[in-house]
Amino acid sequence: MNCCVVGLQWGDEGKGKVVDILAEDSDIVVRYGGGANAGHTVVVGDSRFALHLLPSGSVRPDTVCVITNAVVVDPETLIAEIAGLAEKGISLRGRLWVSENAHIVMSYHKQEDRLREESLGKNKIGTTIRGIGPCYSDKLGRSYALRMGDLRDLDSLRDKLKAIAEYKSKVFSAVYGAEPVDADALFESCSSFADKLLGFITDTTELLHRQIAAGKSVLFEGAQGTLLDIDHGTFPFVTSSNSSSLGMPAGSGVPAKLVDKFIGVAKVYTTRVGSGPLPTEQNNETGQYIRDRGNEYGTTTGRPRRCGWFDAVAVAYSAAIGGIDSVALMHLDTMSGMDELKVCRAYEIDGTETAFFTANNAKLSRARCVYESADGWDEDISGVGSFDDLPQNAKNYVALLERLIGRPITIIGVGPKRSQTIFR
Ligand code: GDP
Ligand code: IMO
Ligand code: MG
Repeated sequence: MNCCVVGLQWGDEGKGKVVDILAEDSDIVVRYGGGANAGHTVVVGDSRFALHLLPSGSVRPDTVCVITNAVVVDPETLIAEIAGLAEKGISLRGRLWVSENAHIVMSYHKQEDRLREESLGKNKIGTTIRGIGPCYSDKLGRSYALRMGDLRDLDSLRDKLKAIAEYKSKVFSAVYGAEPVDADALFESCSSFADKLLGFITDTTELLHRQIAAGKSVLFEGAQGTLLDIDHGTFPFVTSSNSSSLGMPAGSGVPAKLVDKFIGVAKVYTTRVGSGPLPTEQNNETGQYIRDRGNEYGTTTGRPRRCGWFDAVAVAYSAAIGGIDSVALMHLDTMSGMDELKVCRAYEIDGTETAFFTANNAKLSRARCVYESADGWDEDISGVGSFDDLPQNAKNYVALLERLIGRPITIIGVGPKRSQTIFR
């Protein structure tokens, strides 16, 4: 059985935890898009791992991990993550494979990301400054792009880097008045990347097709969330890849029809980091209550996440475009202690009520939420192991979300640990 796990909101839904749990029954875990802008948390016993590039299956010593073509790979982060796991006694030698066609995030991409955001002032996107947009831009522009396979031929790479440094220096100086880019320093970095990473680079499309044909089970791990998708999210406040499940076939070279189940992950409330509309945002005590109890601070940047009520309009849209079969609902434990919970079931935009999400930024900014209310519960549910043992109001709340999303909720998170998970 092959599965794909994808976020249904604006990222940070708890994908790392869900993938880690499902990885127990998978042979291979695959990151198919995004880059080190992701921060996926996996808690194993007393250890907490925050993974940016490595698939969340990497903490399991026998799981094969694959990073496919559409991931933008920051070699510095990847090398640090491999070393970090090695320090904890977890080796990736012989079980991590990185696509030769994956594009490389270079230092000048991160610099460009920062310079552009700074120059935008209050209009900034609020990116993670991981060089994601600039790297994907270079990929689409083609002429000045670098792929992991380029690390195999350092002589040709030296020439490419010269041309890139010349071009970037002109742009940086003209647009931002910034220092020139040093081709020799870039070459030094690349030689060191090649030293450390060449043994992991391969044709991952061939690898995946051979393994699937041999009956191995593959788990695809989405990064970011559907509403941050470049084509179907809240543009321009999105990331630069197809971060919905629609990016999975293009990003990995494995057709969606070989995936048996698409699992969407959503929190029982909504969060967002960075700029852009967030219709259910609670910039008040309720939002702070959620932030404190849910520890809603960015895994990658440490920024406080914006918090709000569950937005069923947004999640139902993500489920629809993502072909979602079932939903993993995380952080139910975080909502204990609230008198009343609200759920957005429709938007009112320019006087018209609609239950279909709009990815049009201007329209979404004018959306007013139509809420449905549910009674809260006081009990600490972080130790509850079965759905039947949840307080009646918690069960009612889950049933309400299930009805509004229109998909079965089969996994419920009641805490960050593996054991704090209810299966239905
Ligand atoms: P991801 O990017 O989707 O993998 O999510 P993040 O790791 O960025 O953020 C999710 C956070 O919630 C992490 O700190 C997890 O350890 C934590 N978490 C996941 N599921 C649950 C849950 O059901 N309850 C609680 N309290 N924490 C959870
Ligand atoms: P995971 O995989 C939450 C957001 C950034 C910013 C926008 C663009 O952990 O869910 P980028 O650096 O991609 O150019 O930033 O996208 N963003 C995320 N938000 N979780 C993520 O990943 C994110 N990756 C990018 O905050 O608003
Ligand atoms: Mg995250």
